[in-house]
Amino acid sequence: MELPQKVKDKHPVFTDISELPGVGPATAEKLKEIGYSTIEALATATISELEAAGIGEKKAAELINLARESIEISWVTAKELASIKSNIGRLTTGSKALDALVGGGLETQSITEFFGEFGSGKSQICHQLAVNVQLPPEKGGLDGSALYIDTENTFRIERIEQMAKHLGLDFDRVSERIIFSEAYNSDHQMLLLDKADKIIKENNVKLIIIDSLTAHFRSEYAGREMLPERQQKLNKHMHKLLRLARAFNAVAVVTNQVMARPDEFFAPTAVSPVGGHIVGHTSHTRLFIRKTAGKNVRIVRLISSPYLPEGEVLIKITTNGVEDVEESDKERR
Ligand code: GTP
Ligand code: MG
Repeated sequence: MELPQKVKDKHPVFTDISELPGVGPATAEKLKEIGYSTIEALATATISELEAAGIGEKKAAELINLARESIEISWVTAKELASIKSNIGRLTTGSKALDALVGGGLETQSITEFFGEFGSGKSQICHQLAVNVQLPPEKGGLDGSALYIDTENTFRIERIEQMAKHLGLDFDRVSERIIFSEAYNSDHQMLLLDKADKIIKENNVKLIIIDSLTAHFRSEYAGREMLPERQQKLNKHMHKLLRLARAFNAVAVVTNQVMARPDEFFAPTAVSPVGGHIVGHTSHTRLFIRKTAGKNVRIVRLISSPYLPEGEVLIKITTNGVEDVEESDKERR
């Protein structure tokens, strides 16, 4: 949006890193290397991160401030963005019951974690969300694209086609708006996210998926002595994700396989999400998904949310995607 000259003079608004005063090609390159190629992302940086890339403390603070101011100005001047809060968007899961459980759909600017055992439907939900985000807001979407980080090679374009068709969307168009990357190991996974800000901005990404968040970390950092390092890296990764979700007003979704804890076999806490407290604290909404005797039916339990009560609902995973369970399905369960 074009701002009046008067406002511009008072609060310079920068739309590109290279416009910042004192940022020459060398500094721009340094910033890019550590994952800050856009003003939006830079606004979420910390001074110590920039210092680690060889930028002096004073300059780091200045750059971050300028980036923050630039963004605040655009919030203040855009009428529809009058407050950050009213800016929070909601993304439908495809099930009205599940949407209601999380207060009207998955929220932008925070992380939602789906955890459950193998085959419980975590990846299916990710596929569905990647399609749904493209819907217009009146249909529960965010009119944006999806960034999909697949770590287990389980992304299936055929499933996207089935889900898109079911929603009456053009498959070609839908597949163009899913930006996909496969992460080969945990470092690559972190790197992909660190370098994502430009892609997110250029493609109007409104959903960032990491499926699975923890698989690589779990296999690479096996054993107790490696736990602190693993947790530290996961923590960094999650914070980066959170900052991107905030900077670009996007929904962030991660999946997490659970380890069985046979001692508490039937309790909903009978499984511990991999990553323990670190993942738990940075995911704002945690959903535990489990299989039932009914073929397509799954139970989704809200385990933790900043403001919603715990509860659980049933959903169905069919060829069409994620759907509500009808009364007739419940009887058969
Ligand atoms: P892990 O990644 O192994 O931890 O599992 P996950 O939780 O990601 O499971 P995923 O989402 O891959 O779920 C697989 C299950 O989804 C299958 O066992 C099926 O029950 C269901 N599913 C997948 N594709 C279809 C489909 O085309 N039609 C139907 N009806 N169900 C499907
Ligand atoms: Mg999966």
